[in-house]
Parts: sequence; structure tokens; C-alpha cells
Amino acid sequence: MAGMWILGIESSCDETGLALYHDRRGLVAHAVHSQIDLHQAYGGVVPELASRDHVRRIVPLYRQVLIEAGIVAGDIDAVAYTAGPGLAGALLVGAAFAESLAFSLGRPAIPVHHLEGHLLSPLLSADPPDYPFVALLVSGGHTQLMRVSAVGEYEILGETLDDAAGEAFDKTAKLLGLPYPGGPALAALAGQGRAGRLRLPRPMLNSGDLDFSFSGLKTAVLHAVNKGLDDTGRADLAAEFQEAVVDVLTAKSLTALRQTRLQRLVVAGGVGANRRLRERLDVELAQRKGRVFYPELALCTDNGAMIAFAGAQRLAAGRVAARAGHEIAVRPRWPLDTL
Ligand code: KG4
Ligand code: ZN
Repeated sequence: MAGMWILGIESSCDETGLALYHDRRGLVAHAVHSQIDLHQAYGGVVPELASRDHVRRIVPLYRQVLIEAGIVAGDIDAVAYTAGPGLAGALLVGAAFAESLAFSLGRPAIPVHHLEGHLLSPLLSADPPDYPFVALLVSGGHTQLMRVSAVGEYEILGETLDDAAGEAFDKTAKLLGLPYPGGPALAALAGQGRAGRLRLPRPMLNSGDLDFSFSGLKTAVLHAVNKGLDDTGRADLAAEFQEAVVDVLTAKSLTALRQTRLQRLVVAGGVGANRRLRERLDVELAQRKGRVFYPELALCTDNGAMIAFAGAQRLAAGRVAARAGHEIAVRPRWPLDTL
């Protein structure tokens, strides 16, 4: 079949993700290796271990997706990879592999912004949103509200002034003695507790803008933990923490929709997997005759599919910057609104 095959490579943090996207057939193959087991003993991601593990996994995963898609290397038309933001060493593994492969095949390599990958990932679902939409991007490193008018047209409406929502989940989980990765563990504990029995603040809920702040919440949790908690108390505190984060994310998303006069909300990034957040947004948007769009659950956390897709969208929109050669360069810090 004619059309284009885009290989996607993600290696910005603790997941190695490879995928093959075809512009007519859609997502045909994708494989992710998570490093959770590797970092668990350390309570968080150890950058050097992450880089080394990407080196070990990337070629086997690449072979795996080729076999799954039933194609050979020569069939690949372009190689998209995460060029930032993320851990420098981890990013370099994906960049070096992608640029070298593209060079050897005589095909273009497309550096992709990790958050653009998350942002566009709901468009990979069976029932994708139309542009324009408001995007709530909630990952481990970022919390942003954006107005998205087209591929590459992102206006930041608000963002966190300190910790990201996922980071707050992770740090709070640590305070409660939960294992890495903290977000899902905290959400599970919250399911056993009741919000409201212990009270936590809703930072910046009424700040009048679309910015967030989550570091104070973590401090409030620390005070509660220091007073001493039994198992019920821990679960109640987890539930209250989750409710506080969800309250703020929901309220600000609704304000962003009102301000932009839009009715479609896209939620992307790891925290978008949170069940309570989804419940609340679904109810609130339904009441306003709006709609929330999520990526497939498997594509909420880091993966190569979203990178392949973002690369394909950029190619289709003619938004791939011309490059002289195959320089291997990454951008550990890279503001999305400079794209
Ligand atoms: O998007 P992502 O996979 O990686 C980054 O680009 O950062 O997001 C990871 C973040 C972590 O902070 C993790 O704790 C959080 O997403 N997370 C969750 C849940 N699943 C993952 N937070 C709350 N509830 C969840 N169910
Ligand atoms: Zn991510």
C-alpha cells in the first residue's frame, strides 16, 4: 500500500517507546518498555541508569515493531524522535539512534517536542476532537492550559508556577511512604479513603488567572504526616490530596473554556490517566454541553506512538524545519510556545 511509514521514538525519561504510524492505516505497531522495576529501589528515576537502559532496549524494540508491522527498514519514510524536553542523556540515546537510522536510510529525521506528542495523542483515538480545542497538559514535568488551533499553533493560557501536578502526586506519594511511581500508587490509596475528613488547601483556586501552584499542597501534606497518621488517616489524606488537585485542575479548565469560548477539552499527559480527574471533567463538561477527549489509556503515559503521530502531523502540515544534515542535538529544556 502506498502512503508513508513514520517510525516514532521516545526516550526522554523512564520509558523506551517505539512505534510505526502509517498515514493511511493509522497506528500499526507500538511497543513500550517501562523502567519502573529499574528505578523502584531508588524511589525515583536515576538518569544514568535510565540512559543505559534506553541503550539496551532501543534496538530490540525497533526490531519488534518492524516485525509487528510486517515491514523492513527500507520501507520507513521518516524517523520522528523526542528531542526534548527531558533528561539529556536519555534523550541523546533516542536522538543518536534516530538520526543515524535516518542517515543510513537516506530519509528525514524529525525532532519532536515531547509535550506536542502528548498534546496531539488524543487525535490518535477512534473519535478524535476537531480543532480548535483547549488542552490541559498534565505530566510529571508540566502543567499547562493551552489553546490549540492547529498543529504547531499553541497558545499558553496558564501554567504551574512551581511543581507540576504529576510531580506533586509523586512527592506526596513519597511523603506517604508509597513506592515510585507515586501517581498511580497515590490514586490507588485515595480510592480507599474519603476526601474531606482531613482538609487541604486548593492553591490558587480563586487567583483569577489560569496559573497553578502545587508545592504548598505538598507542604500541607508534610505537616499532616508529621502529626502522625494511622492507615485510615493516610488513605483519607491521599483522597483529600487527589480531590484538591482535581478541584483546581477542573476549575481552571472550565475557566479556560469560558475565556476562549470553546467547548472541547483535551486532556493529555500521565495525570490524565487519573480516574477521579476523568470522572469530574466528564460530569462538568456534560453539564455544559461540552466534551472531554482523552488519549487511549495506553497512550496517556510516555510512548513512541504519540511521537510518530506528531511527526506525521508535522510532515502533513509542512511544518518540519529544513535541516542541513543529521546533527545529533537534544533540548533538555524547550518551551512549547517557541515551536
Ligand atoms: O506524561 P508522563 O508519563 O511523563 C512525563 O512526561 O512526565 O507523566 C508521568 C506522571 C507522573 O508524575 C505520574 O505520577 C503521573 O504522571 N501519573 C498519575 C497517574 N498515572 C500517572 N498521576 C495521578 N494519577 C494517576 N493515575
Ligand atoms: Zn510525558
